[in-house]
Amino acid sequence: MSDINHQIILNSRPVGWVTPENFKLVEGTIPEIGDGEILTRNLYMSVDPYMRGRMNDVKSYVPPFKIGKVLEAGVVGEVIKSRNPKFKEGDVVVGNLGWENYSKSNGAELLTVQRGVVPLSYYLGVLGMPGMTAYAGLTYVTNAQPGDVVFVSAAAGAVGSVVGQIAKIMGCEVVGCASSDEKVDYLINELGFDRAFNYKTCGSIAKKIAEICPKGIDVNFENVGGEIMEAVLWNMRDFGRMAMCGMIADYNNKKMAPGPRGMMIIIARRLKLQGFLIYDNPACNAEFIQKATGWLAEGKLKYRETVAEGLENAPAAFIGMLKGENIGKQIVKIA
Ligand SMILES: NC(=O)c1ccc[n+]([C@@H]2O[C@H](COP(=O)([O-])OP(=O)(O)OC[C@H]3O[C@@H](n4cnc5c(N)ncnc54)[C@H](OP(=O)(O)O)[C@@H]3O)[C@@H](O)[C@H]2O)c1
Repeated sequence: MSDINHQIILNSRPVGWVTPENFKLVEGTIPEIGDGEILTRNLYMSVDPYMRGRMNDVKSYVPPFKIGKVLEAGVVGEVIKSRNPKFKEGDVVVGNLGWENYSKSNGAELLTVQRGVVPLSYYLGVLGMPGMTAYAGLTYVTNAQPGDVVFVSAAAGAVGSVVGQIAKIMGCEVVGCASSDEKVDYLINELGFDRAFNYKTCGSIAKKIAEICPKGIDVNFENVGGEIMEAVLWNMRDFGRMAMCGMIADYNNKKMAPGPRGMMIIIARRLKLQGFLIYDNPACNAEFIQKATGWLAEGKLKYRETVAEGLENAPAAFIGMLKGENIGKQIVKIA
C-alpha cells in the first residue's frame, strides 16, 4: 500500500459557477488511528448538488466546507484498520467521509453494509440518500395516491429517476422533464414514465405540460425551481401537493433568482408546498431500504449510474453533474 493519501481540498469559494480552480488535489499522509477509531480505504464517493451550497460561506442546514480542508462526501469504504469494537477489518461502511483515498473516523455516523447484495456504489444512490429522498418526498410529504398525476423535474437524475419509478409502482401516472432527448428516451423506454419531454427544446414549458397533462398535476416533486417550477405551478390541480426537494437552477447563480411569478395560483388552487430534508424521518428511510431492496431484486426498480474513474476526476464529475452531464446517479470510483 502506498503511503500517500491523495486528497481534494477546497481551494477557493466559487462565485457563480464552480470551476476546477476551486479544488486542489494534494498529497496527504495516511492517518494513524487512536482508540475508538477506524481507517477506511475509500472505494466510491458521491457528488451531490447540496455540496455546491456547502462551498459558500453561508449558514445552512449543513456547515460550509472550509478553505484548505478536505471536502466531505458520502463515501463507501472498506475498513482496513480498526480500534473500534463495532467494526472489524474487511467491513464495508457507508457515511460521510473525505474526498480522499483513506479516511480516519470514529465510526459514529457510519453504517456497515453487506457485500454481495447489490453493487456497493448503490449505497450512495438508489439505496442511499437520493433514493431515500425520493421515497420520503413522494410518500410522507405529498402522500401520493394511486391515480395521481405525478410530475418530477431533473427526472433522469439520481433522485428524479427513483421518484418516477416509485410513483409508477404506487399506481400513479408519471410525467417528467430532462435536458436531452437521450434522457427523455431513458425515462420513457427504460424507466416506464408515461410521458416526458426535453425542457430545452419544447418551447413554452407551461404549454408543453398543459398539452401532456390535460387533467393537470396532483403531485409535483420539485428538484429544480426557476422557470420549470413556475410552469408546473400553473398546471397544478386544485389541492395539489408539492414536495420542495431542491432548487438546482439557482445553485450557481451569482444572485438568487426571484421566486416564481404568479404565486396567487397557490391560493386559487389551494396548493400545499412543503420543503423537506432527508434527515427528517429516519423511520421512513428504513422502510424505503427494505422496500427498495425488494424492488431492485424483482427488477421493478431500475438504476443507472454515470461513473467517473479516479479521485482526481471528482471535481469534473461534480461540475458535470451540476451541468446535467449525468444520467442517473453520478458516482466517482476511487479504488
Ligand atoms: N431535500 C433533500 O434532502 C435532498 C436530498 C437530495 C437531493 N436534493 C435535491 O434534489 C435535486 C436533485 O438532486 P440529485 O442528487 O438527484 O441530482 P441529479 O438530478 O442526479 O443531478 C442534477 C441534475 O439537475 C439538473 N439540472 C441542473 N441544472 C438545471 C437547471 N438549471 N434547470 C433544470 N435542471 C437542471 C440536471 O438534469 P437535466 O440534464 O435534466 O437538466 C442534472 O442532471 C437537487 O435539487 C438536490 O439539491 C434534495
